[in-house]
Amino acid sequence: MKPLGPIPDGFTAVGGELAVDGVPASVLVARVGRTPCFVYSRAMIAKRIAALRAAMPPRLALHYAVKANPLPALLVAMSGLVDGFDIASGGELAIVSGAGIDPSRLSFAGPGKRDEELSAAIVAGATLNLESAREAERALAAADRLGIAPRLAVRVNPDFDLRGSGMKMGGGAKPFGIDAAQVPALVRTILRAGAEWRGFHIFAGSQALDAAAIAETQALTLTLAAQLADAVGEPLPACNLGGGFGIPYFPGDVPVDIGHVGAELSNHFANLPQVLEHTQFCIELGRYLVGPAGVYLTRIVERKLSHGQTFLITDGGLHHQLAASGNFGTVVRRNYPVAIASRFDAAPSEEASVVGCLCTPLDRLADAALFPRAEEGDLVAVFCAGAYGATASPAAFLGHGPAAELLL
Ligand SMILES: Cc1ncc(COP(=O)(O)O)c(C=O)c1O
Repeated sequence: MKPLGPIPDGFTAVGGELAVDGVPASVLVARVGRTPCFVYSRAMIAKRIAALRAAMPPRLALHYAVKANPLPALLVAMSGLVDGFDIASGGELAIVSGAGIDPSRLSFAGPGKRDEELSAAIVAGATLNLESAREAERALAAADRLGIAPRLAVRVNPDFDLRGSGMKMGGGAKPFGIDAAQVPALVRTILRAGAEWRGFHIFAGSQALDAAAIAETQALTLTLAAQLADAVGEPLPACNLGGGFGIPYFPGDVPVDIGHVGAELSNHFANLPQVLEHTQFCIELGRYLVGPAGVYLTRIVERKLSHGQTFLITDGGLHHQLAASGNFGTVVRRNYPVAIASRFDAAPSEEASVVGCLCTPLDRLADAALFPRAEEGDLVAVFCAGAYGATASPAAFLGHGPAAELLL
């Protein structure tokens, strides 16, 4: 028997079924018209953002990392809730612009930006977080051709990473950012070229639950930003402190103590060196804002017994929920929070594995876990599906097609 991850707060049972914002799963599926589907709660996202803002110093702006969930309706909802957006491609630039969001609120990070993407971002007025000296050269050349002063920031590859993070994006040799030692000279080149200087982007890692580690990384980031700004000899206009706030996915995971992170950051903000006194600070978060506010609903097509083990075979799978299947960067496969949505308040009574409809043993949404007895036609819910679900999974694999998406 393997334990399941913790179900995020805010979900209830209505008439015995899982309900999102008080609406039972069967009603949600009827509204969407089919399974599998993702359902996201705007109210839960707004609540999370309000709690986060209350915990952080007011001076800290909040940006949304679009890669976590780029559904246009969700972006429109986010537009009134966050201060800026982090994009990672020309495609995301088009989606965000198409959602009516002012491109001057965007910053564009990510290695391997093509010349067309650099040009499109410059024309739109987005800030480019430059990932290499060569990219800076290409951006300045594109800006020259266009006759526009580009908004340029430098993504720094710091000499530290985010302790305990699921994905490390800094420390040592990395394809991301410019090694700290090379940054001052590059910034001087950018200033000489007449670009609009937008400061530093320092993103050390992602999916950390340890508040002390996040606070420590933020402190190191502020120190590094001050050192680099001093070396450049100019006050720093802006500094993106990265993100890294994780969410509990697995058994034993606990939520980040945002009160601790906010209190530490407030202390640092109260004692900033002169070169950072007027700096605009932000963090950029994806999964923390939207992950727990989404659920993936899939229907059991068949109950099957094999060598005494029960398999609940669903119409969904890793082609929509790669992360829950354990194939998106985890070393040891552990269970996400998963429940029988149509029997949400029933007592668990049998061990079963929830699998998808793909012909691969990798397609497992819950492994040997305890559930109420479920039958064909029952709905299964996979939680923590609001981030890195629909667009971070190989939806074209085996031709089943994408899941539907609904924003409540
Ligand atoms: C540059 C950058 N910003 C933001 C994020 C979002 O991270 P998360 O969704 O864990 O907050 C990532 C994730 O890899 C990233 O690389």
